[in-house]
Amino acid sequence: MTENTRAFPDWETLYKNQEVESMPWYNESLDPDLKLELDKLKIKKGYFLDLGTGPGTQAIRLFERGFDVTASDLSPTSIHKASVRYNKNMNNKIKFIVDDIINSHLNSNEFDFIFDRGCFHVISPEKRSKYTGEVNRILKEGGLLFLKCFSKEEPSRDTGPYRFSHDMIKKTFENIGFKIQSIRETVYQGTLNPLPKALFVVISK
Ligand SMILES: C[S@@+](CC[C@H](N)C(=O)[O-])C[C@H]1O[C@@H](n2cnc3c(N)ncnc32)[C@H](O)[C@@H]1O
Repeated sequence: MTENTRAFPDWETLYKNQEVESMPWYNESLDPDLKLELDKLKIKKGYFLDLGTGPGTQAIRLFERGFDVTASDLSPTSIHKASVRYNKNMNNKIKFIVDDIINSHLNSNEFDFIFDRGCFHVISPEKRSKYTGEVNRILKEGGLLFLKCFSKEEPSRDTGPYRFSHDMIKKTFENIGFKIQSIRETVYQGTLNPLPKALFVVISK
């Protein structure tokens, strides 16, 4: 079945006009599903990309856990705001970078880990192969992609992020030779009530 194309806000206009704390995805703490996986897999060190960082909350929490962190987003205002907020007293230790993952300027084989909490699920179906191609390029061999996206279990509406089944995730990432390590049904923590139903996926290159 083909997916209907969904409309998303212009990200730059959104970050210019709205405080990040009121955005549906705003979550101060480290994503609990990521925390669970990092603890389970005993991952404590390495180079993380927080892809589509938006408010930057996940980047700062990963940095506090001891990771080297680059945080990218296509919206210059989101990157500016996150950088001012979190790098003020930290000698710019987190690299906040404006970058569109569909046409990324990040270096090849740079990252041990990528966290995508909400970027993949706003990429239109026709651009997904560009996304997976770029993720494949920038992730080191043996690296892990931690992915949080809306689940098919979340009621279908014409608005909001694309929804994914386990099969859709498998097809998308196995197509480029990635291996699905685990997929779990969970929720997307943020400011919505109830919290949207989501998938948390661990994928290895
Ligand atoms: C749902 S928000 C999630 C923000 C953040 N990951 C979080 O958990 O708070 C999606 C983010 O992806 C960014 N984004 C959308 N398309 C992108 C692209 N092609 N490349 C990089 N970032 C993108 C948006 O600007 C937005 O900040």
